[in-house]
Amino acid sequence: MAAGRFITFEGGEGTGKSTQVRRLAARLAAAGREVVVTREPGGTPLGEAIRTLILSSRPAVEAEFLLFAAARAEHVDKLIRPALAAGRWVVCDRYSDSTRVYQGVLAGVDRTLIDVVEAATSRAAVPDLTVVLDLPVATGLGRATRRGDLNRYDAESVGYHERIRQGFLDIARADSGRCVVVDGGASEDTVAEAIWSALGARLGVGAS
Ligand code: TYD
Repeated sequence: MAAGRFITFEGGEGTGKSTQVRRLAARLAAAGREVVVTREPGGTPLGEAIRTLILSSRPAVEAEFLLFAAARAEHVDKLIRPALAAGRWVVCDRYSDSTRVYQGVLAGVDRTLIDVVEAATSRAAVPDLTVVLDLPVATGLGRATRRGDLNRYDAESVGYHERIRQGFLDIARADSGRCVVVDGGASEDTVAEAIWSALGARLGVGAS
């Protein structure tokens, strides 16, 4: 059986990741792919428990980094790798680029440490495609505030969110073979089309 494909979505708050993850998964399923939708932190019972722990408390920077890493190790082992091996397409809301931006760029966790831990936790589960949804910070925060779902990361200053945006753009620039930047400010349909055509161009998914 052909191995599946691994697609991750990254970006700041209010960029529309969750909506576009759902839309892409539906379109892939309609095109005949077996699709698994998941998220980080989360995706497994242990991962979801760690998610609750992280988002409801303020762990020390290193503790938080290791908790995200533990959730990822479990996720890769129990869900992502088995799904890919079974030929499924895994669509994941956030993955290791979020660690590089939030724990690396923002919290200052050492980059070498991040590299070493990432190699151990992701165990070669490198995304085939990473969609970076990009949006001016004011637009993203406005959307999230209207939705009333700012978590404790989201309630930070505008400068903090600018660094998040820039962090993802820097990763996308440095790893342009894996990443595609999509303008999240367009209409939901336009963004979905842009993502679908990126999949066609990068992964050869046929039109449907
Ligand atoms: P979530 O409510 O899912 O945020 P969003 O809707 O913006 O995706 O909360 C996940 C938070 O965890 C988000 O603010 C980013 C953060 N995070 C990290 O700091 N490091 C990581 O490795 C991951 C996966 C997420």
